[in-house]
Amino acid sequence: MARLKTAVLISGRGSNLEALIAACAKRGFPAELALVLANRPAKGLDHAKRAKIPIKIVPHRDFAERADFDAALDNALSAAGIELVCLAGFMRLLGSAFVRRWRDRLVNIHPSLLPAFPGLDTHARALKAGVRFTGCTVHFVREGMDDGPIIVQAAVPVLQGDDEADLAARVLKAEHRAYPLALRLISEGCVTVADERVAIKGAAKPGPFLLNPSD
Ligand code: GRF
Repeated sequence: MARLKTAVLISGRGSNLEALIAACAKRGFPAELALVLANRPAKGLDHAKRAKIPIKIVPHRDFAERADFDAALDNALSAAGIELVCLAGFMRLLGSAFVRRWRDRLVNIHPSLLPAFPGLDTHARALKAGVRFTGCTVHFVREGMDDGPIIVQAAVPVLQGDDEADLAARVLKAEHRAYPLALRLISEGCVTVADERVAIKGAAKPGPFLLNPSD
């Protein structure tokens, strides 16, 4: 069966990109990374180069209007025959025309259990709020920031004495499991959106709950 032609958009170190590359390299994985796009010479592009995935830099500074930047991204995606777009630490807001055009074919990963802590500084805010669990969310992108139907979430405990870096590292490990899982489920055609909620056919069942502290 044809693999889903996927693009990953990055701005930074690209550890989620690396996890997606590793997943796609596995025999029988239903997606292929056909393009990595960045808005600047991001460090993470090295992962794509090593894996011989085509890369393109579309510098946002070259465009006075966001719509023109979005159109340049869109052109690059179309030229590569991309069917699904994964945002992975892409630090530019995409305009509503782009988001509407890629509706249910554009996903993002966010380092919190949405709808808690959208936006920046999620780990500092989780620590300040004193939550017992935080985690990450892979979701379809809508026009609101960090908003949209949730596909996969992974929860991690917040431990006594954690600082922001501890929590970020624990969540990042979970991200590297959650994003490949979401990509696999979407690419296998198991994911549908109805009434702005995701239904998943055939996903493995989790345990009944996560308890922190454990008893
Ligand atoms: C991740 O924490 C992701 O959830 C957020 O940006 C970060 C990107 O990290 N959207 P990396 O570039 O994938 O290492």
